[in-house]
Amino acid sequence: MKIETLRWFNNRLEMIDQRILPAAFEYLSYYTAASVAEGIRSMVVRGAPAIGVAAAYGVALEALKLSQRAKGEGNDEKADFKQGMEAGFAVLAASRPTAVNLFWALQRMRKVWESVATQTQQQIAQHLLTEAHEILAEDVRINKAMGAHGAALLQDGARVLTHCNAGALATAGWGTALGVFRSAVESGKKISVIADETRPFLQGARLTAWEMVQENIPVTLITDNMAGHLMAQGEIDAVVVGTDRVAANGDVANKIGTYMVAVLAQRHNIPFYVACPLSTIDMTIATGKDIPIEERSTEEVKGFRDYHWAAAGVTIRNPAFDVTPAELVTGLITEKGVIHHPDAEQLRRLFA
Ligand code: MRU
Repeated sequence: MKIETLRWFNNRLEMIDQRILPAAFEYLSYYTAASVAEGIRSMVVRGAPAIGVAAAYGVALEALKLSQRAKGEGNDEKADFKQGMEAGFAVLAASRPTAVNLFWALQRMRKVWESVATQTQQQIAQHLLTEAHEILAEDVRINKAMGAHGAALLQDGARVLTHCNAGALATAGWGTALGVFRSAVESGKKISVIADETRPFLQGARLTAWEMVQENIPVTLITDNMAGHLMAQGEIDAVVVGTDRVAANGDVANKIGTYMVAVLAQRHNIPFYVACPLSTIDMTIATGKDIPIEERSTEEVKGFRDYHWAAAGVTIRNPAFDVTPAELVTGLITEKGVIHHPDAEQLRRLFA
């Protein structure tokens, strides 16, 4: 089964509702930037690259909507269009703070808008839609390139731990970390996946496990606090995770709990790899300390959906991401190849 996390269908954006997977498989439709922003905020769509693709379509949808409403191309209509577009960009930029792909995609869409700003609104909207389609297609190509580089790092028979979901569901298809597993299997290697459940949103239990089961890639689910035990028992050969933002010195922000896994991996001499498209590297941020970490609703920690198991009145924290220092990263798997032991100098060269 090919997983189409986002798709353009009948002049609208459709996204798989990842809040209800795997109990139900359903697409939701989107027509405006504000509704796409809400889809990102509420995690209908999640995962750094998928958030970027969704934001790109959000901009295109806003342009289409505004251009259909415009009565002409006079100065007033042009000003209304510009104001509407700026509001669309702003609502999308405010949806989630950590994944840099969101801002990367918005910047890319803005550049296209600026380059065709003198054309009619309909033409501008079509250019923006074409760019959103291109960002989606490019994401799959990049994931396959990363997959090939990453697969070469895994031994036949490797048992690989992953945290959260960096799969087809977190991208436009194939996935980053799970893309490495898919590419390894495609190249004839037998690998098995150990999926951390990933509290509190359960991306591992619900999404990674579902993706791997769909494709008959052997997968074993564990709770997050079991990883150290399995490593100590010699049951994990490598770790591969995705990322939401990499700082210019190689520090890696990813789903909360990743840092814990990286520390454990170092303790047990297990390689810790991060699958990372170039669009996730933020050269404007010197170190991981400056990466904004989203703090989500305490409801997610209190319980699940309507059921609350936490004691009423207790104080709850819910940081959604943490930062793994570059020194714990064995390699960044990018579409341009693997950067072993990443540091500021190597990342600077990558973009030179
Ligand atoms: O909160 P989420 O589900 O959006 O967090 C997702 C992750 O942390 C992923 O590992 C990361 O975005 C990389 S996805 C290819």
